[in-house]
Amino acid sequence: MATITVVGGTGYAGGSIAREAARRGHTVVSFSRTVPEGDARIDGVRYETGSMLDAEARDRAVTGSDVVVSALAPRGELDGRIVEADDALAALALERGVRLGVVGGFSSLRGAEGAPRFAETGDLPPEFASEALQMNEVLTHLLGSQDALDWFFVSPAMQFGSYAPGEALGRYRVGGEVALFDEAGVSAVSGADFALAVVDEIETPAHRRAQFGVAY
Ligand SMILES: NC(=O)c1ccc[n+]([C@@H]2O[C@H](COP(=O)([O-])OP(=O)(O)OC[C@H]3O[C@@H](n4cnc5c(N)ncnc54)[C@H](OP(=O)(O)O)[C@@H]3O)[C@@H](O)[C@H]2O)c1
Repeated sequence: MATITVVGGTGYAGGSIAREAARRGHTVVSFSRTVPEGDARIDGVRYETGSMLDAEARDRAVTGSDVVVSALAPRGELDGRIVEADDALAALALERGVRLGVVGGFSSLRGAEGAPRFAETGDLPPEFASEALQMNEVLTHLLGSQDALDWFFVSPAMQFGSYAPGEALGRYRVGGEVALFDEAGVSAVSGADFALAVVDEIETPAHRRAQFGVAY
């Protein structure tokens, strides 16, 4: 069993990952600025508070963990500062020998082998562009990081998020840098099934220093 810290563990992606990791019996610690009350708390998750823009909180988040999953989003105070937060988590993870997973976006995937990442085409819907570009910059920094940093960057399907939580089907497919679509041409995954893939990757690492995608 591992000690897994989910930074942003009260959010949509992070909460799904924390729930699945706790269900499997891992020691799970969530970090966010505020903690949920009552039923919104997941049994078996320890809730800690702190901003990942704060060095002391980042230190607490990484210390003692086997794997840190950053499920922060470039919104609110992290809009324009997510790269700084994830870079700092990566530096600490490198120093402490902790594995780092980052939940990024669909737009960091490619449409085909050798094609640019969607985020690099200059052709993103304006409502997603800023978020996509910021998460893609996080990926670029990971790709250029020192070899000793053990990281993965996971891109969910296009239809993923609190607006479309979906159902737990108990299945998923994993792809590399190229986006996966089902036979109907749809790219989707529920929060619960996305979390299965992430916790499977934590338990049995298959993508060291690599990006992967998760979809049905
Ligand atoms: N289809 C797609 O490609 C797709 C769709 C959705 C999301 N995503 C990606 O998935 C990732 C997570 O998104 P999400 O929708 O799950 O986010 P979310 O639901 O907004 O959750 C964000 C989490 O981060 C915490 N947080 C915010 N600011 C923080 C700070 N300064 N320090 C520490 N914690 C902080 C929040 O809690 P507090 O506010 O209490 O701190 C919350 O737990 C992002 O990279 C996003 O781009 C991709």
